[in-house]
Amino acid sequence: MKTGDRICALKEEKDALVLAHNYQRPEIQDVADFVGDSLELARMAESATKPLVVFCGVLFMAETAKILNPGKKVLVPVREATCPLADQLTPGMLARARADHPGAAVVLYINSTAACKALADVVCTSANAVGIVRSLDAPEVIVAPDANLAAYVQSQVPEKRIIAVPPGGHCYVHQDFTRQDVFSGRERGDTVICHPECRPEVQEASDHVASTGGMVQILRGQPPGRGWTVLTEREMGYRLRRLYPDQVVHVRDDAVCRDMKKTTLRDLLLSLEQERYEVVLPGETMENARGAIQRMLEAGR
Ligand code: 13P
Ligand code: SF4
Repeated sequence: MKTGDRICALKEEKDALVLAHNYQRPEIQDVADFVGDSLELARMAESATKPLVVFCGVLFMAETAKILNPGKKVLVPVREATCPLADQLTPGMLARARADHPGAAVVLYINSTAACKALADVVCTSANAVGIVRSLDAPEVIVAPDANLAAYVQSQVPEKRIIAVPPGGHCYVHQDFTRQDVFSGRERGDTVICHPECRPEVQEASDHVASTGGMVQILRGQPPGRGWTVLTEREMGYRLRRLYPDQVVHVRDDAVCRDMKKTTLRDLLLSLEQERYEVVLPGETMENARGAIQRMLEAGR
């Protein structure tokens, strides 16, 4: 039997739900039960009824799934698949920022560790960061750990003061895009969409700034043959072309998140076969982080 067929058989046998982020390898997206952005995946994990959830993405995503649905067994096929952006923030840095800015609300990007989430007032994703910050009473808001997302929020919510912690926090994949990528797309006649993790000058030059789920929505129902330059991780191109084969999608082939690529079809098969690697977090961290994540989900309901 082929690996993909064995995975599908095991999903049935073990009554497992396989979730995959939009940046996962094409063959993983093809066998997943649901593919989406961080917010959509958090919602799917929260409402999962199957006893076993296998999360193909990076560790903070699987941890979020466990926190939201602690009664389920949540597996991550590769424990070393982490997010270098999430690793740029420590609980100590957040505690210092709070002490330096008493009265400021703390909005934590979902790309962060569970220990940091436990110290946040509310979590956000790239899909809802602007709405979450706008909904808060506090005039000052700490946004961590992505400074480019913080700059995007500041541009959309000028009535508040946004404090980026750490000041230079970034994702190396998105930091690599420049205005030249936007201009190259325009020269092809494309509409340009960038992720809010891109630099502010790239955000300003693009036609749209959107989360990966937002990109899926923007292309829905467009007249056939339209051109799109999508400034985010390469596999978003696979996702969009699969959903919209009549659209012309351009991505940069070298825009690769190494951690998102660590999970192979074989890793997923072994994860299902051996029920490895179970996500386990300290009870107190889970309790404290859950409140901040649930506040985000409730804000969007
Ligand atoms: P999305 O929430 O837009 O899917 O982004 C997740 C991510 O890791 C971006 O680099
Ligand atoms: Fe983290 Fe960037 Fe990879 Fe997203 S693309 S998981 S932010 S390193």
